[in-house]
Amino acid sequence: MCYSIPGKVISINDNAALLDYFGEKKEALVDVEDIKSGDYVFAQGGVIVQKLGEDEAQSILAGWEELFFKLQEKDRILSEENPPPLNPLPPGEGKQSAFPPPLTGGGEACPEHSRRGEGGLDILPILQKNRAGETLTKDELLSLLKCDNKEELALLYKTANSIRHKIHKNASCVHGIIEFSNYCKNDCAYCGIRSENRNIERYRMGVDEIVNEVVSAVNNYGFKAFVLQSGEDSYFTTERLVEIISRIRKSVGVLLILSIGERDLECYRELYDAGARGVLIRFETASPSLYSSIHTTLQYENRLTLLKGVKDIGYLIATGSLIGLPGQSEEDILNDILFAHSLNTEMYSFGPLIPHPDTPLAGSHAVSLDAMLKMIAVTRLITQDGNILVTSAVEKLFGKEGVRQALMAGGNSMMINLTPEKYGRLYSIYPGKGDGSGNIRGKITETLSLLHSLGRAPMDVGM
Ligand code: 5AD
Repeated sequence: MCYSIPGKVISINDNAALLDYFGEKKEALVDVEDIKSGDYVFAQGGVIVQKLGEDEAQSILAGWEELFFKLQEKDRILSEENPPPLNPLPPGEGKQSAFPPPLTGGGEACPEHSRRGEGGLDILPILQKNRAGETLTKDELLSLLKCDNKEELALLYKTANSIRHKIHKNASCVHGIIEFSNYCKNDCAYCGIRSENRNIERYRMGVDEIVNEVVSAVNNYGFKAFVLQSGEDSYFTTERLVEIISRIRKSVGVLLILSIGERDLECYRELYDAGARGVLIRFETASPSLYSSIHTTLQYENRLTLLKGVKDIGYLIATGSLIGLPGQSEEDILNDILFAHSLNTEMYSFGPLIPHPDTPLAGSHAVSLDAMLKMIAVTRLITQDGNILVTSAVEKLFGKEGVRQALMAGGNSMMINLTPEKYGRLYSIYPGKGDGSGNIRGKITETLSLLHSLGRAPMDVGM
């Protein structure tokens, strides 16, 4: 739930508030004091982050109203264009290949004979089954990930987009992110800031600098959700992190999401008490053997325990994996999606590996845009209501057009990097990561115009 135009509290039941946005109702957790029916609030990720006065709320709402309904209409038209018919075609009207025999065994989906036979749409019955609310089997999901027919893929993406529209309407999240240290004690085979890489200049921002950057980004640009990211840097002790989080939370109403790697659960508990509410940490791959082939300092089991532990503490979780790892199969990709789903993930973050020259995976090949879009679309079919991030790596590899297509294949969430320019270029987890950092206004304008062109309302940058 990412509307950050003000919502009006209609009712409160225990800790859950029902909010109204121009007639649409959304639920949010009450996480600030003194909230009652009739109040106006900002909420992010299903959490109320700020209360605001009625006059201020009314003037923001008046500024939004016309645009809100215009965007909604545009999104409706774009997402309802030619969705797959809900009812299967009567026998005889479709080509034989539109009704493939049930797929069995070993995930051998989308076999040659049914891949694209004589012009029928082989994945149509699978999409229809999903639209009818039935659970798809692993083989069916796999056949979606394996298909490579353009016409079929267009249908898959449209179906995913129409689910996104049905559940989220045109609300999209745009979170800010700041990368405050590129020191890292780990040695992940894919990552440019791995400890073994001696070719990068290391930096860490000071506590005051981090607090000031976030507070001014929230005050100046209206961000309502913010990711604090770093390598696994033990300079940032629990105590330092508590100070950063509590100072930010005292200054501004914002949903703080931590992306700081593995810490013990006691540390995460203290950071929650200080005011952090989300954790972004990928499991990178749900295959234990693949995981151990690319990590020497980290263990698969620990990552899983951590993800479950932070969820139990009460954090919203954002997680996912890398696509394009050497030896990764479509089945591995499907397992990544299913695993993320099994964790009750609030935000799915799947991104393409971009080979970094100073890492052991320098010689890998990046995946195609369709491989990425399929992963996003299948995730949307499975999760239905989760938020799906279109990552900065998607933009780096496939440009703005890639981002647009990802938003039209089920994605609904983006991040804008607000790391100060002098540091951003050093946070090179993949080559060229920090390019273009610095021009924050420009990035916001570009992101908003892309979202507006698709009828999406980027409601948490307050514009
Ligand atoms: N290409 C794409 N993504 C990468 N990450 C690290 N290195 C790369 C790379 N070369 C991702 C990891 C990590 C996140 C912060 O960045 O998935 O979890």
